[in-house]
Amino acid sequence: MMRLDKLLAHAGYGTRKEVKALIKAKQVTVNGINALKDKQQIDEFQDEVCVCGEKLVYAQNHFIMMNKPAGVICANRDDYHETIMDLFDCFIGTDMFPVGRLDIDTEGLLLICNDGKLAHRLLSPKHHVDKCYEVHLAKEIDAAQVQKLSSELDLGDFISKPAQIEVITPTCIHMVIQEGKFHQVKRMLQAVDNEVVYLKRLRFGPLSLDESLSQGEWRYLTKSETDALYAVK
Ligand code: URA
Repeated sequence: MMRLDKLLAHAGYGTRKEVKALIKAKQVTVNGINALKDKQQIDEFQDEVCVCGEKLVYAQNHFIMMNKPAGVICANRDDYHETIMDLFDCFIGTDMFPVGRLDIDTEGLLLICNDGKLAHRLLSPKHHVDKCYEVHLAKEIDAAQVQKLSSELDLGDFISKPAQIEVITPTCIHMVIQEGKFHQVKRMLQAVDNEVVYLKRLRFGPLSLDESLSQGEWRYLTKSETDALYAVK
């Protein structure tokens, strides 16, 4: 369940203020009845919502971009920590799941969807999907470290593929990797004798973090964003 104004805003009918105006102007119906309140609770999977007489169509597959805050874990349920699913409780009990995981202290772009096939494709190493991270470091990075990160690195249980490194400041880099092993970025930095003090995912394949989302906020993907995900080869 979610508020009508939030649902309309997420579905692309304008800002919260704009959709409130639509509701006030009696342009929105819920199950055939004029909606009177922007905070009316909607079951987005059951209720029929029309805007200016046009049915709001819920795609069968739902795609959400979240700006994950630190302190929450990428799981559906946990007895000890808040999970990303707690942050959008309207999806509790549905088939939505996070596509890949970010560590509890990692922030940034997280894709959540209910299309298992697509998720599998995006996560499979065969498809070489880029993930770009903003990485803040405990020590200033030097040319030798950049060189090592840009080559294959032996991490003990696997050899990571070369990363693309852009040095933003001596203690901040943007790092693009295609694999998604457990703690991979942290382990790669450790392997070159540095340490990650802050990590944020900026891009996942064709998706870029919408910086207008504050931490813990989410929105549906636009059509062009979902089309770009399906176009990943
Ligand atoms: N690499 C890490 O070390 N942690 C993350 O959360 C993501 C990539």
